[in-house]
Amino acid sequence: MSSSGPEPSASVLDVFRQSVAEIIARSLEIPIETAYDGVDLGKKGVDFTVAIPRFRRPGKPQELGKKIEQEFSPNDYLERLVVDGVFAHFYCNSKALTRLTLDQINELSRPTESAPFGTYGCNSSGRGKKVVIEFSSPNIAKPFHAGHLRSTIIGTFLSNLYSANGWETIRMNYLGDWGKQFGLLAVAFAKYGSEEKLAANPIMHLFDIYVAINKDVKEQEATGHSSVNEEAKDVFRRMEQGDTEMLALWRRFRELSIEAYKKVYQRLNITFDVYSGESLVTTANIDASMQRLRNSNLLVEKFAWESKRDRDYNAVGQQAQDEKPAYAVDLSKWKMSKPVVQKADGTTIYMVRDIAGAMQRYQQYHFDKMIYVVGDQQDLHCQQFFKILELMGEPYASSLQHINFGKVQGMSTRNGEVKFLDEILDMAKEAMLAQMKTNEDKFSNVEDPDFTSDQIGMTCVKIQDMQAKRAGSYPFDVKRMTSFEGDTGAYLQYAHVRLCSVARKVADETTLREDVTTINTDLLVEPKAREVVYHLATYPDAVRMALRVSEPSTIVTYCFRLSHLISSAWETLVVKGQDPEVAQARLYLFTCARHVLSSAMRLLSLTPLERM
Ligand code: ARG
Repeated sequence: MSSSGPEPSASVLDVFRQSVAEIIARSLEIPIETAYDGVDLGKKGVDFTVAIPRFRRPGKPQELGKKIEQEFSPNDYLERLVVDGVFAHFYCNSKALTRLTLDQINELSRPTESAPFGTYGCNSSGRGKKVVIEFSSPNIAKPFHAGHLRSTIIGTFLSNLYSANGWETIRMNYLGDWGKQFGLLAVAFAKYGSEEKLAANPIMHLFDIYVAINKDVKEQEATGHSSVNEEAKDVFRRMEQGDTEMLALWRRFRELSIEAYKKVYQRLNITFDVYSGESLVTTANIDASMQRLRNSNLLVEKFAWESKRDRDYNAVGQQAQDEKPAYAVDLSKWKMSKPVVQKADGTTIYMVRDIAGAMQRYQQYHFDKMIYVVGDQQDLHCQQFFKILELMGEPYASSLQHINFGKVQGMSTRNGEVKFLDEILDMAKEAMLAQMKTNEDKFSNVEDPDFTSDQIGMTCVKIQDMQAKRAGSYPFDVKRMTSFEGDTGAYLQYAHVRLCSVARKVADETTLREDVTTINTDLLVEPKAREVVYHLATYPDAVRMALRVSEPSTIVTYCFRLSHLISSAWETLVVKGQDPEVAQARLYLFTCARHVLSSAMRLLSLTPLERM
């Protein structure tokens, strides 16, 4: 199952898995690595399961199973084997599993300078490799829609995930900061702009004037001709030719917007290493790309009327009359139509900027992998430019990956459609605050209701987004997602708070010993304890698995399972008023559980709360 090989210093379970692999390798006479890859986590109380037929050994699986049985004798790590048909089920020695798991969690949860929250769950499989992850990527002067929200949430998670798997990770925000609309925005600013409003809330002001100017264009177009549109096109052409005055204005729009975005990202606990953008793809790289396409005979001429439905090309639909050809790449052989890469008037478009942008990023970062976190509406666009890069013979073309996701339905506020990221977060925060206020007693004890409701609100938004597989779509439902019932972000925060509060509640009787080696973990004999320990031990596996499938839901599911196991363990594993040795052992278990839940929540970019 694991293709990265055992790493016992990161995952104690690997020690047990190796022991299983040795028995399998010996009895089936196969290489230990092959055997190791065939050791799966078990289900329903089974620790490991091996499907015997997968190794394709001569002989009946049932007989091979008998051989495994003969070969098996309990050792330090494994206490029992049950062969059931073609499956061999292994059970770990519970005392060893408990001791080693808790000690490893404790050890690896210590804060260090490079890892303030410890490293339990992390592994080094990506050591020496570099990944560029592009996500969020909103467009300046346009709404921050649900697609950007999902890209932001999923992209942050993926960045954390690659880092946890040992990769060097570069987080990139590729802003929509170039294109004909910036010509329009400049015209809008001259007509409707206000310096004060721009300074006070750049994102909102740019959006407002952009809406106003688009209305003008629409009205003019209804009468046949839009002078505003002509002017905008002219301004953008000037920008592309390097007009200093126009560029200075545009730069200010860009910088103020980035500053404003940074504040919201900070609220969300998200940082970027690079604020890139369409504007930063250099002319030299665009020219080089066009040249390469031409040299390799990939360019075909395409007339405006042929491409009515192409994304960026729509805007120049009127040019059909003069029949100037644009340049396209014929991908019909791969059923990817003929995407236009350059417009007739020579101005650049989204497509060619993505082609040249990939080249540019490779020159700069020499990445081993590059990921684009973009909604599934752009599936075709990504397939197209990946294909074009492949046809151009770019060596990294096969290292590009589009991580897509489905739509969010019905994301709107009371005042209508959502336009800004802040609005979404405020909405969740308010709903959370209202929820919290329904329990007056509790609410009066919350130290910082503002911070707390904001954090839980954001947790709810993020969990709602990450709990199902990326490809699915979901309805944005503030009421449901902020409920304390069911698997919500609020419930997860509550589970963490409760783990924090055990130690507080027994503080007058007992505190966890500094030297944990003196804690007798053999006292954790209850099946409930065993279940929790096993699940804690599988966290490093969950981190590896999540990377393999690029699914945040793997970690969300892990968190909920852990929370449920703990919630059902409280009754049996009481700490208060117990024999001091038993209390120590149980407190040790809950402390380790808290470390793991906290790590998993941080991996999901959440801030685990200690009180609420
Ligand atoms: N700004 C784009 C949009 O809002 C998303 C950018 C996706 N990334 C890319 N390299 N094309 O649609």
